[in-house]
Amino acid sequence: MCGIVGYIGTQAATEILLAGLEKLEYRGYDSAGLATIWEGEVNCVRAKGKLHNLRSKVENLETPAPIGIGHTRWATHGKPEEYNAHPHMNTAMRVAVVQNGIVENYRELREELKSQGYEFLSDTDTEVIPHLIAQFLKEEKALGGESNFDSPFFEAVRKTVNQLTGAFALAVVCADYPDELIVVRQQAPLVIGFGQGEFFCASDTPAILSHTRAVLPLDNGEIARLTPLGVEVYDFNARRLKKHPRMLNMNPMMVEKQGFKHFMLKEIYEQPGVVRDCLEAYFNSDWIANDSNVAPINLGLPPEIYNDVEQIQIVACGTSWHAALIGKYLLEHLAQIPTQVHYASEFRYAPSPLTPNTLIIGVTQSGETADTLAALEMEKERRKEQQPKFQARLLGITNRPESSLGRMLPNIINTLAGIEIGVAATKTFVAQVMAFYALALDLAYLRKTVSSAKLQEIINGLRQIPGEIEGLLETQEKYIEELVHEFNETKDFIFLGRGINFPIALEGALKLKEISYIHAEGYPAGEMKHGPIALLDEKVPVVAIAMPGTVYEKVISNAQEAKARDSRLIGVTPIRDGEAGDIFNDLIPVPAVDELLSPILAVIPLQLLAYHIAARRGLDVDQPRNLAKSVTVE
Ligand code: F6R
Repeated sequence: MCGIVGYIGTQAATEILLAGLEKLEYRGYDSAGLATIWEGEVNCVRAKGKLHNLRSKVENLETPAPIGIGHTRWATHGKPEEYNAHPHMNTAMRVAVVQNGIVENYRELREELKSQGYEFLSDTDTEVIPHLIAQFLKEEKALGGESNFDSPFFEAVRKTVNQLTGAFALAVVCADYPDELIVVRQQAPLVIGFGQGEFFCASDTPAILSHTRAVLPLDNGEIARLTPLGVEVYDFNARRLKKHPRMLNMNPMMVEKQGFKHFMLKEIYEQPGVVRDCLEAYFNSDWIANDSNVAPINLGLPPEIYNDVEQIQIVACGTSWHAALIGKYLLEHLAQIPTQVHYASEFRYAPSPLTPNTLIIGVTQSGETADTLAALEMEKERRKEQQPKFQARLLGITNRPESSLGRMLPNIINTLAGIEIGVAATKTFVAQVMAFYALALDLAYLRKTVSSAKLQEIINGLRQIPGEIEGLLETQEKYIEELVHEFNETKDFIFLGRGINFPIALEGALKLKEISYIHAEGYPAGEMKHGPIALLDEKVPVVAIAMPGTVYEKVISNAQEAKARDSRLIGVTPIRDGEAGDIFNDLIPVPAVDELLSPILAVIPLQLLAYHIAARRGLDVDQPRNLAKSVTVE
């Protein structure tokens, strides 16, 4: 949700800022802007729309300014217009600010500032910040060096952030202090990068990865002063903090397309590797059923987190919520632990009654989703004063262990998928599902709820999955690319699945709507006759996920009901003969596997279907309209 970057050093800042913003465009892309300081002036340039609009505007204005800040926006307050784009300024004191997040008390602050004569030029919550800084800066300057801090600019920003409520990350520059870049973190991510005589800041590491791997993620309530000489970190009460950068385990290639047309397609193709990495890291190859002293799974989690667990609550949003639904199925089915899955945004305001011995799991690919973090924080707080058995046992599942989630929770399953750039989640979903297999199998082994032979069978099955995904990609991608020609005019799609594949129906529908803007619904196949069947006619294709197992026949019957209403039927199934062969107009074959493992294969054709429909329509697959990769606001 909005990306911010900043630079201070010896090189020209503009190109560094633009290149950084390019890597952050996945966080928001409805407008962009930057401000640099050169010859005692702030040069602020902003443009509506994608970053290339900003690039063309700054082309003729480039200066050697060695300090600046930049922003790519996902609109919260105020339409995506140039006048709402960041940086926002106080021109009198020549202060420029970029912000990610929401200032919740901006209305009161705005009224107060207006009554003092400050003029507002945008509809944003952000604009109160440069005016407040300007006000405090005037006061600091009036103190004439008697301030308790040697930088009046730093002090003005610090006093300002103490006035703000909400979630925000800031980068601030001022023409009168061309050697200072001030950055702040409060519930929205911000990392500082350490170069040779130069420093960077950004909402996320890809923006600085080509310059340095030495990074310092700020924690909530921290404010830092970056000068060409170094970085000083303080809390909001101006107490100096000792913090040290650490080395990032990521290379710049991870954030390149590597010959693929889109990041999304590249990430779909990375899925066999993601599954392999998980198997290698967490599944013990020395384990042999009935003949081994080692456990089959090693997630490296402390036993206390598992002991006596009677219940599991999972909080997540979007695609991560779909992975959690599969997780619920696995945890209940394999480990026999009652599990509830909540939308984090709902759970924060309507939490379940406190239950004892409950494991609470937060699932998030970005590790930054505001609702998921807040739900976990709330659970931690409300369980704090309780008797021991009610206290929080928190576990995070993410591919970004360096994220806010990773720093908030001591226990994390790193899904090892690495960073995902395409806004539509693909490889991170498959990786989250793999983490749930590992967790459910570990618990099942410890509780002896599944026989060793069955465990062995499932693990053997999982070991085949990478090869099976590779086969699917090889044999089905071209077919799906051709098939999508049939849907040039289609406006609605229905996806049906049951049991462990119901979440895959939801995921197929979500992928399609977010990147192709086609209306799509995912339903448990048996529910269709309770309402959605009214939508069906020859213009509404139905995708049925029919994997052999407990509900195969049921799904086929539900598909028949759709066919009887003239819908074009697309089957995702390994079975080509008999009834399945007859009823489907189009058949996307997937390998036959144990029903428990089938979601991880069934999702692949649905990702490809969504991708090719959107790509064929010429849409911006990696950056679909209105969306952002990290949702750091409520
Ligand atoms: C869909 C998608 C979103 C995210 C959701 C949660 O493709 O990516 O629905 O799943 O915004 O994000 P994370 O997983 O970062 O918490």
